[in-house]
Amino acid sequence: MNRAVFITGATGGIGAAAVELLRRRGFTVYAGARGPAGFGPEVRVVPLDVADPESVAAAAKQVGTEVEGLWAVINNAGVIVQGPLELVPAEEWRRQLDVNTLGPASVVREFLPLIRAGRGRIVNVSASTGWIALPLLGALSASKAGLESLSNALRLELAVWKIPVVVVEPGSTQTAIFTKAGEAEQAAHGRIDADRLELYRGHLDAYAKASARFKPGPVEKVAEVIVRAVEASRPKRRYTVGDARTLGAVLIRLPAGLRDRVLSNVLGLSSLKP
Ligand SMILES: NC(=O)c1ccc[n+]([C@@H]2O[C@H](COP(=O)([O-])OP(=O)(O)OC[C@H]3O[C@@H](n4cnc5c(N)ncnc54)[C@H](OP(=O)(O)O)[C@@H]3O)[C@@H](O)[C@H]2O)c1
Repeated sequence: MNRAVFITGATGGIGAAAVELLRRRGFTVYAGARGPAGFGPEVRVVPLDVADPESVAAAAKQVGTEVEGLWAVINNAGVIVQGPLELVPAEEWRRQLDVNTLGPASVVREFLPLIRAGRGRIVNVSASTGWIALPLLGALSASKAGLESLSNALRLELAVWKIPVVVVEPGSTQTAIFTKAGEAEQAAHGRIDADRLELYRGHLDAYAKASARFKPGPVEKVAEVIVRAVEASRPKRRYTVGDARTLGAVLIRLPAGLRDRVLSNVLGLSSLKP
């Protein structure tokens, strides 16, 4: 059978790099794209908004008219909604969960017949925030924790058909996701009561300072690992990339109280005064 894969969020940093590498590895790539995509004619662009179940269903229908089955479905589309709970409007929280958690659930639901027919696999792009929640990233952490849980449940549900469910966990990676998150946060601040915003000035400054210390890795490294997860004859449950391998692995082993203190110190929250 032709090795066809479907990937969401294909126009972004990691997604676009994965499309390119998958194409070079000889896969027929169906690239789910919310907006204009600059791929060559060999990549099949499929209009897709993962937050819209009708759009997901239409995408599965379109791909199903061209292939009998899929080798892999890669849930890569994602956004970051950042800020302390009090400063994040409800619709932004909803957008975070719609894209990062409910989106992959819709994609899996609609694409499962093609995955089953192609003896394919599911690859979910998560993040270490899925198991180590970070302050000022509560919405993101909740969304990725949801994706982690969904992946664990699906792995058992789909085992009878031998459909592997794989999590790829990139470390901090150089993409536009952070700029987009910052812009959305600024837009939200424009709609928030100034006194409430001022309460969190110290948190926001500390977060900005801590974020600036991160050295994001290249998208190609993550794309390589996604392709490894797609190609492995017996894929692992989880592949970690870059600083997710070190930072996340250390933090998760700490007792919860110590982990809270470490995170609070590293992120500059421990010295804040009310
Ligand atoms: N970058 C990192 O440091 C990092 C670390 C850990 C995990 N990750 C994960 O890696 C994945 C890819 O992120 P990235 O860093 O490559 O971000 P990115 O460059 O911003 O790309 C994200 C992609 O998702 C798409 N997308 C957003 N909302 C969508 C929607 N409603 N429907 C369909 N597509 C949508 C974006 O399309 P538009 O351009 O149209 O918005 C874009 O193509 C995400 O799941 C992210 O959580 C990233």
